[in-house]
Amino acid sequence: MARLLLSPVLLAFSLAAASLVSNAGVAEAAAWPWHSHWHWRGWRGRQGCVSSVISEEEYASLFLHKDDAACPAHGFYNYSAFVAAAESFPEFGNAGRDADTRRREVAAFLAQISHETTGGWATAPDGPYAWGLCFKEELTPPSNYCDANNTQWKCVSGKSYHGRGPMQLSWNYNYGPAGKALGFDGLGNPEIVASNAVVAFKAALWFWMTPQAPKPSCHDVMVGRYEPTEADKAANRTAGFGLTTNIINGGLECSLPGNAQEADRVGYYKHYGDILGVRDLGPNLDCASQKPYS
Ligand SMILES: *[C@@H]1O[C@H](CO)[C@@H](O)[C@H](O)[C@H]1NC(C)=O
Ligand SMILES: *[C@@H]1O[C@H](CO)[C@@H](O)[C@H](O)[C@H]1NC(C)=O
Ligand SMILES: *[C@@H]1O[C@H](CO)[C@@H](O)[C@H](O)[C@H]1NC(C)=O
Repeated sequence: MARLLLSPVLLAFSLAAASLVSNAGVAEAAAWPWHSHWHWRGWRGRQGCVSSVISEEEYASLFLHKDDAACPAHGFYNYSAFVAAAESFPEFGNAGRDADTRRREVAAFLAQISHETTGGWATAPDGPYAWGLCFKEELTPPSNYCDANNTQWKCVSGKSYHGRGPMQLSWNYNYGPAGKALGFDGLGNPEIVASNAVVAFKAALWFWMTPQAPKPSCHDVMVGRYEPTEADKAANRTAGFGLTTNIINGGLECSLPGNAQEADRVGYYKHYGDILGVRDLGPNLDCASQKPYS
């Protein structure tokens, strides 16, 4: 088993059938059935209570193997850290029109972080989607993920901005603003994202909740508040779980029908949707026919 727990990046990686899809004749953006321009912001009474959307028992049933000795993150990603981090983002799992919207957003977030940290493989015990939150940082980063051209968030010498935490936060231009927003030194102390579970979950939620132009936030997409621009329409970037994949890693996974990593994200989403009782997962689960953001 351990040999398969090398790096999520190495798992099930097949781009054999990859081919670019032309966006000629882009269809009318499909209307998401629950989308509404009526932005109801009610249900304030339970603000910040992600525990009302997912209980500790449900959380445990999603991440069956996260505390196995074989998982490098064992003991790290506990439920109380997740709930404590979510208190900093009261709109998370608490927006949209109905309970199904709230469950759907939480299922989508947990699916994305599970793919980012998966220790699963096709024939893994309990299936490939029982292995989310197995890793807390990239084991063999190919670089220090420093975009030296970014002068706003200057890399600190000797520091590495490789993937850490549930969302595998990467690059100085993400560590810098995440730290600023959350009150830690993202550029000088990126390591905290893999050593403090509350900070780790907060950094992941920061990425989920914060639009980074021209991208909308994953949160807005999942709660029906996404308004595509003309460029988005031309790129077929319609609302749905697939668009959150595009926001997270579109450059490597979208516009590539059959991409195995993208399929793993969708697999997690369907699995969690089942367990959490999401009635409608929504349209556009994949981003195979979307152009990435450039
Ligand atoms: C746009 O995306 C939808 C949903 O993923 C897909 O059915 C449709 O074929 C796509 N259109 C184009 C032109 O790629
Ligand atoms: C930084 O800019 C140079 C010159 O424009 C370019 O060649 C290089 O790829 C850029 N580096 C990154 C990480 O974007
Ligand atoms: C959960 O993680 C937090 C942050 O690392 C830690 O303070 C807390 O003791 C942990 N709780 C349990 C029940 O392990």
